[in-house]
Amino acid sequence: MESNIPNNIPQHVAIIMDGNGRWARARMMPRVEGHRQGAKALKRIVKASRELGIRYLTVYAFSTENWKRPEAEVSSLMKLFISALNDETPELKKNNVRLRAMGALDMLPKDVQEKLYEAMDMTKDCDALDLIIAVSYGGRYEICDACKKLLKDFEDKKISIDEVNENTFRNYLYLPDVPDPDFLIRTSKELRVSNFLLWQIAYSELVVSEKYWPEFDFSELKRCIDEFNKRSRRFGKTGDQIKAESEEK
Ligand code: IPE
Ligand code: IPE
Ligand code: MG
Repeated sequence: MESNIPNNIPQHVAIIMDGNGRWARARMMPRVEGHRQGAKALKRIVKASRELGIRYLTVYAFSTENWKRPEAEVSSLMKLFISALNDETPELKKNNVRLRAMGALDMLPKDVQEKLYEAMDMTKDCDALDLIIAVSYGGRYEICDACKKLLKDFEDKKISIDEVNENTFRNYLYLPDVPDPDFLIRTSKELRVSNFLLWQIAYSELVVSEKYWPEFDFSELKRCIDEFNKRSRRFGKTGDQIKAESEEK
């Protein structure tokens, strides 16, 4: 493959796919056209992630707050999910990509839920890349949900107060087996996390792309990875400690 592939490929990339509406408005198109082009961008980035060897790609497709959008926009997004799942699942399977979902999935219309579970089932044995769609997802909702499950286990005497710590709590989140994102990309210049993966991004590097999501491509992904690779990640330690640790390796 081309030599301009970055050397260090992160294991888990998370993306807030933002700017579909602004992309469309800049072209005097309806917002839904921005969402359609956004779905194409996602297809490109899944392919790119597979080629680069990224192991987990989590994308924010629809937030718990997005339910407050006009009904027409929400229903066209739901239709788009169904057609994307119909069109793309066989291709995902062929490329050894496992589709997973995280969010309050029971809030989705029944037909979307059915398609989603069908696609997850069809790709369940794929293991080159996990494509995780955060849909009807909210970070606060996920944490509250985790607390409810934990309290249920406490009531059932499956966990004691002394056993609650960061590691055991993680088991109550939607996808406990997935490592935290190394970095989080947000497109369209916005500098906020909008309730995405609040627990999991505690130490993720944030990279902002100026591009609207529908125009995000392989070269912009590589630029983001290059930017990530220039960061010094200290996890609370001093720069000297980190230097000494890397020299020991
Ligand atoms: C992101 O694009 C897609 C969803 C939130 C579903 P937006 O629809 O938020 O686009 P902008 O931010 O209005 O440009
Ligand atoms: C975040 O984008 C949610 C998704 C990309 C799915 P929004 O457009 O909903 O976020 P805000 O409203 O700008 O914070
Ligand atoms: Mg937006």
